[in-house]
Amino acid sequence: MNIRNLLRDLPVFAQPLPQFAPGDAPGHPNDLFVSWLGDAVAAGVAEPHAMSLSTVDADGMPDTRTLLLKNVDDRGWQFATDADSAKGRQVATRPLAALGFYWREQGRQVRARGSVAALDPQTSASDFLARPVGSRVASLASRQSEVLTDPADLEHALTAAEDAVRDNPDVLCESHTVYAVTPVTVEFWQGDARRRHVRLRYRRVGDSWAKELLWP
Ligand SMILES: Cc1cc2nc3c(=O)[nH]c(=O)nc-3n(C[C@H](O)[C@H](O)[C@H](O)COP(=O)(O)O)c2cc1C
Repeated sequence: MNIRNLLRDLPVFAQPLPQFAPGDAPGHPNDLFVSWLGDAVAAGVAEPHAMSLSTVDADGMPDTRTLLLKNVDDRGWQFATDADSAKGRQVATRPLAALGFYWREQGRQVRARGSVAALDPQTSASDFLARPVGSRVASLASRQSEVLTDPADLEHALTAAEDAVRDNPDVLCESHTVYAVTPVTVEFWQGDARRRHVRLRYRRVGDSWAKELLWP
């Protein structure tokens, strides 16, 4: 198989795509994000809340992975993870992050960059308790991002975590943490079959937002 030819022949932006009129965009990027998220849900986009989270380690080496968006409000764009994971340690050392969404059915991309901080312990606790029991067990059992030398260790840890949740349904995972990214820029990108892609970037200026178009 010729991989280069295979990749070159794959279609992109072949389906009908929505129009985006940046002149009508609201003044705050969160409002446009919520509107686009609603469009994605209505259009049946699979897992529209899945996003890339990029961070850097202490040496400046970038890292990226997929997470679920938990909320967007005045505190920022929120995700939940284990504070002891690789990403948890990275943001503890370098509290900066970038988020990326790609809604391929609509040819839409959203990017946000900014600072990241853990929210208060009550928010993390209530997020943890709102999760399905299987997710809570998995978090309690996990030593996320550590080397798993023996898969049997995971099975033992899962069994112990199941017992712990059965004994006390309100048991918390101390390292489960909700983080919020406070963006300084948010870019909305609408793909176009004729490559007239539309890019609108919001840039934080003091307490408000400037909007600017970008060359595609
Ligand atoms: C669709 C999808 C959703 C995910 N959601 C989360 C999440 O919300 N929180 C999380 O910690 N990991 C989530 N993961 C797993 C992460 O991608 C990653 O493997 C894990 O958090 C360890 O990352 P790290 O070693 O960089 O810390 C998800 C993975 C996928 C594919």
